[in-house]
Amino acid sequence: MLTVNAYGPTVTEPLVLLHGFPFDSRMWADVLAAMPRVGVLTMDAPGFGRSAPIDGGLEDYADAVAETLTARGVQRAVVAGLSMGGYVALALAERHPDRLAGIGLLDTKAQADPEPARQNRLRVADAALGPEGAAAVAPMIDVLTAPGAPAQVRATVTRWLEEAPPSGIAWGQRAMAARPDRLNVLDGLDIPGLVLRGSDDATASVADHEAMSRALGTDVVQVAGAGHMSAVEAPGAVAEALSDLVARVRHTG
Ligand code: MLT
Repeated sequence: MLTVNAYGPTVTEPLVLLHGFPFDSRMWADVLAAMPRVGVLTMDAPGFGRSAPIDGGLEDYADAVAETLTARGVQRAVVAGLSMGGYVALALAERHPDRLAGIGLLDTKAQADPEPARQNRLRVADAALGPEGAAAVAPMIDVLTAPGAPAQVRATVTRWLEEAPPSGIAWGQRAMAARPDRLNVLDGLDIPGLVLRGSDDATASVADHEAMSRALGTDVVQVAGAGHMSAVEAPGAVAEALSDLVARVRHTG
């Protein structure tokens, strides 16, 4: 079971927010502040924030999301994830499609990693468990935020990277390295979807986002001036896009 925090009104089909790697639910704070009237659950990934580690990969994380919803009496939810959270939303769509009322894919991709990226993840995982610890993910700061991101945003993300738990870093990197291509999962989904990217996201390309939006039959929402951490860099625009997704789910439901 994952640690959950609830915000806003209690609703039958809440918005579930899954954070990116190697962070925790604090990542969503400014987005939550910008949409007080939406019923939201945030969950910490296994081994991050206040959630206990699990054995297995992103598929087991997706199963844990489904179990956590069941424990709260929630049958269906609008599930949105940023980057690693998006990989988990896709795994949930594959394994538990009946639990999804809508899906949000933010600064993420449906394709598996190319081999060099996979090898790099395994190297970082080993390094995090050695003397380097969380310093193994310090170089990520250069690709996480847009070049013009405010110094305060960069400082916050740098601090979160320093605080990341080494065991969680190793688990997350190995789990992400093992994930398969899930673009085809989106073809089978007939629910409202959101594909969002920071215009300056250096880790997930326009082509990645367009492939997902084509499969979902929706447009890509571009957040001007934001990088990979769109939810931290431009929380108002991300809250607006998520609120619109929730409204579309209510409208079709
Ligand atoms: C994230 O923000 O979750 C990471 O960039 C995901 C990844 O390393 O692919």
